[in-house]
Amino acid sequence: MTYNAKAYSAASATSTLAFTTVARRDPTGHDVQIEILFCGICHSDLHQVRNEWKNVMPTVYPCIPGHEIVGRVSRVGSAVTGFKPGDLAAVGCLVDSDRTCPECQAGLEQFCPNLTLTYNSPDKYLGGVTYGGYSDSVVVDERFVLRVPFNLDPAGAAPLLCAGITTYSPMRHWGVTEGKKVGVVGLGGLGHMAVKIAHALGAHVVVFTTSPNKKESALRLGADEVVISRNAGEVQKHAGSFDFILDAVAAEHDIDAYIQLLRRDGNITLVGAPGKPLAVPVFGLIFKRRSLSGSPIGGIPETQEMLDFCGAHNITANVEVIPIQKVNEAYERLATADVKYRFSIDMASLKAE
Ligand SMILES: NC(=O)c1ccc[n+]([C@@H]2O[C@H](COP(=O)([O-])OP(=O)(O)OC[C@H]3O[C@@H](n4cnc5c(N)ncnc54)[C@H](OP(=O)(O)O)[C@@H]3O)[C@@H](O)[C@H]2O)c1
Ligand SMILES: [Zn+2]
Ligand SMILES: [Zn+2]
Repeated sequence: MTYNAKAYSAASATSTLAFTTVARRDPTGHDVQIEILFCGICHSDLHQVRNEWKNVMPTVYPCIPGHEIVGRVSRVGSAVTGFKPGDLAAVGCLVDSDRTCPECQAGLEQFCPNLTLTYNSPDKYLGGVTYGGYSDSVVVDERFVLRVPFNLDPAGAAPLLCAGITTYSPMRHWGVTEGKKVGVVGLGGLGHMAVKIAHALGAHVVVFTTSPNKKESALRLGADEVVISRNAGEVQKHAGSFDFILDAVAAEHDIDAYIQLLRRDGNITLVGAPGKPLAVPVFGLIFKRRSLSGSPIGGIPETQEMLDFCGAHNITANVEVIPIQKVNEAYERLATADVKYRFSIDMASLKAE
């Protein structure tokens, strides 16, 4: 049994997003139906709507993006134990996995070979693909539903579900703690969350940005230093000094410049996911036994840990709240790095459609 939800979808890689309706399954068993209050706009939404990841995960159209979801539980299946109607709840990039493989058993569902992403993944209930959070509601198994600390503003909490966990997870993995020198490259949605989280973890945080107009706000976000990355001389002053660098740039860029900034055994983790390959000169890695890695989102237990950490430190994203009717304008601005620092869609605006 299904019901109709309102949503915004893209019909092709070159179309804008427009109003549509979509069938969602009625909640049964462990399902939770969530009335969506806010959904963040991640640059991954833009990459996928425009099919920029076609070589890795081609987009199936129509595409309803959105994986930074905060809302209120409206209905629950009969077997649900953790949520009840009226609860504040959140959904990130994952809505299911096989639950049995070693990765799932370790709580690392992001590495499950049979994971179901929130959108553009095979839908094992209804066939076709899953549809994301640019919608008035969504139905998700309670195992993949998160709790939002009560003190966090829901519009600003929504981006934690992707931008928050994607930056928290590698920083925890690579041991970002008090006294470590941490670089953040690209001050967008992910980058600004990385600054807040690294600062809260006690690190010395240096932001590398191509946008001089972000300098003051980077300092207010918690950066200790800000470097305008187009100024090679300024960048070079930090050579050989970083324990860890998080690269959150959404476009092609020179990563060797940042590899050179790592100390011995330092690590640079790429979370930014431009569609085209980046060049990696190996000597930068060899000489100081530096490492280069990537990191995808995070598993469910760590996502809850991140939300609780953000609750304890009063961390949310800096959001520009928009009605869904402005989503296409927001995409144009996101493409030119013109947002401080995340768009969050107020889903009440969808009622007017
Ligand atoms: N690994 C994962 O699991 C994961 C999860 C979510 C998102 N992502 C990816 O992470 C990337 C960032 O996402 P986001 O939502 O944070 O995007 P965003 O808000 O658009 O931020 C990207 C930032 O990159 C910088 N930038 C953009 N174009 C650039 C260029 N040509 N050269 C140098 N810097 C440039 C800009 O920062 P400055 O103005 O400061 O230079 C921009 O604000 C995207 O590729 C996204 O798909 C990956
Ligand atoms: Zn995302
Ligand atoms: Zn699994």
